[in-house]
Amino acid sequence: MPEAKAADGSLIQRAVETAYAKVNLSLDVLDVRPDGFHNLRSVMQTVSLCDSLTFSLDNVDPSPKSPGLPDYSLIDRSIQLVRETVGSQESVTYSLIKRIPIGAGLGGGSSDAAAALRGVSRLLGADLSFPTLLELSERLGSDVPFFIRGGTALVEGRGERILSLPPAPTRWFVLVNGGVPVSTARVFTELKDEDRGDGRSTHRVVESLKSGLVEVGSNDLWPAAARVCPEIERLHEVFAAKVPSGRVMLSGSGGTLFAIFDSKQEAMAVEAELDGIVPWVYVAQSVDPMELEPTRR
Ligand code: C5P
Repeated sequence: MPEAKAADGSLIQRAVETAYAKVNLSLDVLDVRPDGFHNLRSVMQTVSLCDSLTFSLDNVDPSPKSPGLPDYSLIDRSIQLVRETVGSQESVTYSLIKRIPIGAGLGGGSSDAAAALRGVSRLLGADLSFPTLLELSERLGSDVPFFIRGGTALVEGRGERILSLPPAPTRWFVLVNGGVPVSTARVFTELKDEDRGDGRSTHRVVESLKSGLVEVGSNDLWPAAARVCPEIERLHEVFAAKVPSGRVMLSGSGGTLFAIFDSKQEAMAVEAELDGIVPWVYVAQSVDPMELEPTRR
């Protein structure tokens, strides 16, 4: 196994990773694939809401994983995948500070998995290439490939075809969640043929990005998500009433709703109005991880 060395030649014993959440500026569901998954077309954007992960070689004081948090199996599988790929016998442990709500359509679990691939690759001194990380990420879940780099991207296929777009101009996002986790698999099961779109919504969002505008399109999963979790519609009503444009979007398979603002002040004013009347509200800004962390390939 190659030894991980820091710039000063010392051995790296920890790798710290930031796992950003995403929102879907648009989400078109096109058709059902032979493998049972759906072909999607979506514009995804990473935002500053994030989990923090630290990966360590097992002989370095592992902080205990916080009790009461769900299912770490995707992170464990990511670690195992990197170990197998690089042929490492090292045992790797990690700690996680979880801030992204679970089952919320914000990609938290997928982003944690991508962070594990990046972090463990560095920790073991393998520095796997971007194409290799992408290939490994596809085996972990449909949203994981996007999070290897994050930023602003057109995502197609099952989620594995990523076309990075120029970073969108900075915007502020008010995120609202009803506190009820929503199962992505259940939402896809509830999807009806008439819910599916033709991809034009995503096309329009890509075109407006080219003109420097950050706009939302539509989300074909919304009707199915609302069938699974009726609370989404109640939340939408409360939220949209506080947003001057009335434009509120569902992220992924829900249940997080979001609205976009040009300034932090506008976003904070809406957050203040919602505070105490919705279970969870958060102000995030769009982020391009490649600018914040040049080491991220
Ligand atoms: O890939 P991931 O585990 O995130 O997907 C969760 C579920 O969502 C899958 O089991 C599948 O039912 C559905 N899905 C889909 N088409 C996609 C992505 C997810 O049908 N492109």
